[in-house]
Amino acid sequence: MIIKKLMIRIAALGILSLGAQFISVTARAEQVDRNLGIIPAPLSVTSLPGEFRIIVDDDVAIVFGSASAHKEANLFRDYLYRAYGLDVPVVGKKRCRAGKTISFTTDCDISNPEGYSLTVHESEIEVCGRGAGLFYGLQSLMQMCSTATTHREQVTIPCAEIRDEPRYSYRGIMQDVGYHIYPVSFIKKQIDLLARYKMNIYHWHLTEDHGWRIEIKKYPRLTEISAYRAQTCISNYDPELCGMDSTPYGGYYTQEEIRDIVAYAAERHVTVIPEIELPGHTLAVLAAYPELACGDNPGPFKVAETWGIYEDVFCAGKEATFHFLEDVLSEVMDLFPSKYIHIGGDECPKTRWKNCPYCQRRIVDNHLKDEYELQSYFIKRIEKFVKSKGRRIIGWDEILEGGLAPDATVMNWRGINEGIKAVQQAHDVIMAPSEYVYFDYLQGPRDKEPLAIGWGFNPIERVYAYNPTPEGLTPEQQKHIIGVEAPLWTEHMDTHRKVEYMLFPRLMALAEIAWTPVEIKNLTNFLEVRLPEHLAWLDTTRTVYRVPTPIGMRDETLYGSEFTVSLKAPVKGAEIYYNFDGQEPRETDYLYEKPIRIIVPPGEKREIRAIVVTPSGKRSISTTTVFVNNPKPAEMHED
Ligand code: ACM
Ligand code: ZN
Repeated sequence: MIIKKLMIRIAALGILSLGAQFISVTARAEQVDRNLGIIPAPLSVTSLPGEFRIIVDDDVAIVFGSASAHKEANLFRDYLYRAYGLDVPVVGKKRCRAGKTISFTTDCDISNPEGYSLTVHESEIEVCGRGAGLFYGLQSLMQMCSTATTHREQVTIPCAEIRDEPRYSYRGIMQDVGYHIYPVSFIKKQIDLLARYKMNIYHWHLTEDHGWRIEIKKYPRLTEISAYRAQTCISNYDPELCGMDSTPYGGYYTQEEIRDIVAYAAERHVTVIPEIELPGHTLAVLAAYPELACGDNPGPFKVAETWGIYEDVFCAGKEATFHFLEDVLSEVMDLFPSKYIHIGGDECPKTRWKNCPYCQRRIVDNHLKDEYELQSYFIKRIEKFVKSKGRRIIGWDEILEGGLAPDATVMNWRGINEGIKAVQQAHDVIMAPSEYVYFDYLQGPRDKEPLAIGWGFNPIERVYAYNPTPEGLTPEQQKHIIGVEAPLWTEHMDTHRKVEYMLFPRLMALAEIAWTPVEIKNLTNFLEVRLPEHLAWLDTTRTVYRVPTPIGMRDETLYGSEFTVSLKAPVKGAEIYYNFDGQEPRETDYLYEKPIRIIVPPGEKREIRAIVVTPSGKRSISTTTVFVNNPKPAEMHED
């Protein structure tokens, strides 16, 4: 595929001598997309001449080489029919008489269980892998169809040989449903999109101070009381600034719904890992079962209504706490077959434990040094129980404090150093550092973006640049970095549409850092060549996403007299509108069709402001570049 890459190149000149007038427009060399439109970029791609083409009534068949490849063969048939109106038969290998074949087989020499090979010749396509590997080969093939094909009733796939496997075995997002809850249909849609991008973990954060979201048969008050709050803080994290909406809010997932979701995900090679928070973030439980809090006759408590951390947590001194948790975790493990069970462990204030006779007794009896070691006691005891059922725990990195439980996997959300400390103790680590992959952080300027958590800023370029394996680890230590995950905390995501906005397109960047070796990553190819195709596809699916601003333009001031602005839409098929009048651009303004020449008389300035509008009508925020024909201010000359 030939992609013409246009770039803004602005002659930001005349810096020292105002008289100098020149223009520089750089259109980068045309480039074949070596990744063939696939996100995440494959490990190895060899492009070959020619293409495999399917048209209506073609002599072509989809062939399955063994019974275990039948599912992928059927999925590809359904895809061709749905996306292109092409009706291609699926047949077993022995019965195939077609002139051209698309084969799904399991008979290949690929050791990575998620690896696959995909070969496209002019009359034959072969996808080979086992289990998840074959499914991922299918995802790549479908992506190649949608990026190379421009007409319905016809599919064109470029000839190539691909060998592919993931960099990390754990590639996930975390969906918090405690702060806000979303429909089952939405959870399934998320799982579909994860699978498309070869992500394999849906970490489901099911319990919070603000709501308990999983039916537990033995403790009905968890869904009668803990699942509902009387009202919610409107919009703002800071309780001082926060109004209340005076509207009861809540809900939960039944065990039947959960089984359905887990099975749906498994079909798509996504493992759902449940998170049951302990010992902190448990105020909602205490509202229903106050006897599990510290001291004698504690409570009453109410399910949290404003954001933040609460001091009332499970009592670590009472045996009743552990009986409760073992009962709950038993039901949880019956529902979720995952190897890992996430037990939270973050942000547990020690205030109540310090003043609780039961907690203090536990400290003395177990020769613990302080409340941090008491937290460690708590986690180790839970780990022992989870392990007795053949599972392993994951905990947020606070579980390092007071000593790690023997087989715990650490989810590193604070500074990278916490992950390094865990790796140095030979524990497995999943990287989820807030400063790179928290998707509740902003994607653009705060004054133009929907409300996000504070000032945290993780635009897509920052996510893409992140390397989950920190520098300086030995090869043995590097093996303990098993993957990367992006959490979606939902204080400010009242609706599923907002979740989608925060997730896309950052999910595509996450998928690439989770799958593709660092040496193959390429930001320009990702942002300017492949992502526009994928966003054009997403645009047809009624999914909300953040529309990137025009490629080739930034919020900045440039100095000089003549400029040429060359732009490219970040979504294939989208339009760019711009104006010079300082207002927010709209469709009544200029439509970008060719590079824009800007001439600024001496002593004057011009301002160009632009937005992107996608085929489905979604809009980007605006970008503004100011061109000034004055000397650049002296303090800025230095660099
Ligand atoms: C966290 O963000 N408290 C894990
Ligand atoms: Zn206590």
